[in-house]
Amino acid sequence: MATEETLVLVKPDGVARGLTGQILARIEAKGYEIVDIRKFTPAREVLAAHYAEHEGKPFYEPLIEFMMSGDVVAVRVAGHRVIEGFRSLAGATEPTTAAPGTIRGDLGRDWGLKVQQNLVHGSDSPESAERELALWFS
Ligand code: RTP
Ligand code: MG
Repeated sequence: MATEETLVLVKPDGVARGLTGQILARIEAKGYEIVDIRKFTPAREVLAAHYAEHEGKPFYEPLIEFMMSGDVVAVRVAGHRVIEGFRSLAGATEPTTAAPGTIRGDLGRDWGLKVQQNLVHGSDSPESAERELALWFS
């Protein structure tokens, strides 16, 4: 069986705050492999495809604007059960209640904005991972 892969994004808040290295270090310290990595400011088209499931929600447009606001670091990460494992490292969506010890719990906070700025994205299923890796590493 091929090794499982996931898409991790260090979001613009993580890049702007200089936390990319700390976030990558946690992925490597856990034992996962960084297979590919790129840094760029994503176009709206990529983000619209990436976040299609959230279209129509109140935070959708703020989310797209936030994600277009600066560079992101897109990472292809590999390892057995890495999809589930990285979601566990990332912690809950809301940084205020994300458990201490997680990326969002340790390094994130609520800034009172229209969308949660929570440092990282991780694919949530094998289907999402395949779709998102094709989108961000095409
Ligand atoms: P992600 O997709 O980024 O890994 O995060 P997630 O699964 O934990 O959260 P999801 O429900 O997929 O939402 C995508 C991103 O939208 C922002 N969000 N803000 N009420 C809010 O302010 C709100 N809800 C969602 C977050 O940046 C979240 O990660
Ligand atoms: Mg999600």
